[in-house]
Amino acid sequence: MDEAPATVDRPGLPPGGYAVPVLLGHVDTSAAARMPTGVAELDRVLAGGLVPGSVTLVGGEPGIGKSTLLLQALAGLARAGGRALLVSGEESASQVRLRAERLEALSPRLWLVPETSLPGVVAAVDQVHPTVVVVDSIQTIVDPELEPGPGSVTQVRHCASRLVALARERGVALVLAGQVTKDGALAGPRVLEHVVDTVLSFEGERHHALRLLRAVKHRFGPTGELGLFEMTEGGLAGVDDPGQLFLGDRREGTSGSVVVPTMEGSRPLVVELQALATESHIPVPRRSAQGLDGGRLALVLAVLARRTWLSLDRTDVYASVVGGVRVADPAADLAMAMALASAVTGVPVPDDVVVLAEVGLGGELRHVGHTPRRLAESARLGFTRALVAPSSAGGPAGLALVPVATVADAMARFGLVARH
Ligand code: TYD
Ligand code: MG
Repeated sequence: MDEAPATVDRPGLPPGGYAVPVLLGHVDTSAAARMPTGVAELDRVLAGGLVPGSVTLVGGEPGIGKSTLLLQALAGLARAGGRALLVSGEESASQVRLRAERLEALSPRLWLVPETSLPGVVAAVDQVHPTVVVVDSIQTIVDPELEPGPGSVTQVRHCASRLVALARERGVALVLAGQVTKDGALAGPRVLEHVVDTVLSFEGERHHALRLLRAVKHRFGPTGELGLFEMTEGGLAGVDDPGQLFLGDRREGTSGSVVVPTMEGSRPLVVELQALATESHIPVPRRSAQGLDGGRLALVLAVLARRTWLSLDRTDVYASVVGGVRVADPAADLAMAMALASAVTGVPVPDDVVVLAEVGLGGELRHVGHTPRRLAESARLGFTRALVAPSSAGGPAGLALVPVATVADAMARFGLVARH
C-alpha cells in the first residue's frame, strides 16, 4: 500500500467496484487545483477559483446580475486557456452575444448553447469537452422523460443531480445559476444546497449599484469572505476600496451618524450607521432597522433604557447602515447606541472618531475580534480616534485609542448627556 499514490474518486470505479482505502497522505490533490476566473472578487469568495469536478450554485433575485457575473467569469476562464460552455436557458443566442460584446467577453474558447433540455445539455458537453460549464438557470432545464413542467421541485432536483453526476464524471467545473425570490421560496437554491459543493449568494438593494457576493457553503475554503461589486455600464466592476464607496457621501457634523469598522470575513468594511428618533404617536413605538439586525437593535435599546439615562420607549426609532450593506457584526452595538444618543441629544459624534465594541447586558463594553485590522483600515481612511472597550490594546500609528468601560461612559465622553 506504500507505492504509487492512487486517486480515489468514486465515479472512476469499475461498475460494481468498491473504493480502495488509501493513506490520506497519498491522496492525489492535483485534480483539486483551482482555476481562477479572473474576476478578482469572485476568486476571493471562492478562495482562489473553481475546482474541477465541483459544482457551484449562484443564487440571487432576478435582475441582481447573476448572468452578467457568470459571463464575465466564463470569459476570464476562457482567456486563461480553459474551454468554457454557457448553457443559456433564459436568453436567446443573440441576446447573449450582444451582452458579451458589451462586456468584452467574446473569446475563441467560449461556446454557447441555447438549450433547456437535459439530454441536450449533456450532448453539448460531449461535443465541446469544456473545463467549465455554466447553466443559466437551473430552473429552465427539463428532462422530457419526467412529468412535471420546468421549474418544479422534482425537475430542478432531478436535473441538478444529473448535472452534478456529469460534472464529477468529466471533471468539469459546473456552475448553476439559480433564481430566488425575496423569501427564498422558489424551487431552486434551497432544494439544491445539499447536492452542490458551494453555494454563493448574490445580493444587493435593487436601487443601489452595490452587489455583495458571499459563500453560504464552501467545501474548498472558508465561507466568511465577501466579494464587492458595482454594477456599471460595462458590467460588474470589483470594488477594491469600499471605504470610499461607503463614506463618500458622509456629511460631517451631523447628529445621529457614527462610523464603525465592521468585519466581513477577513475584510474590514468601514461603514456609517445612522439613527433617527422621533416622538411616537402609536401604542407600540416603531423600530426600524435597515441593514442592521433587529434583535441587536432591541438589545441596545433595552441596555440604553436600563443602564443609561436614555429611554426610548415612547420614541419611534430608525436605524440604518448607509450604502446598502447588511451589518450583523456585534462590534456595531456601541455605534448603534452612540448614534441613537447623538440623534436624541442633537450632539454630533466628532467626524474623526470610529466606534467599535460589543455591548453586554450590563451596559459593559466588550472587546471585538480582529480589532487591529479594523483599526488599521480606519486609520487608512483618515480617522484619528477609536472608541473601544477597555481591553482593546494598541492602535496603529495616527490612531489614538479611547478606552471606555460602559455605554454610559462612552456617551458622557462625547457629551451625549441628558438636558435638563
Ligand atoms: P443580469 O445579469 O441579467 O441579472 P440576473 O441574471 O441575476 O437576472 O443583470 C441584471 C441587470 O444588470 C439588468 O437590469 C441590467 C443590468 N446591467 C448593467 O447595468 N450593466 C451591464 O453591463 C449588464 C450586462 C447588465
Ligand atoms: Mg439571468
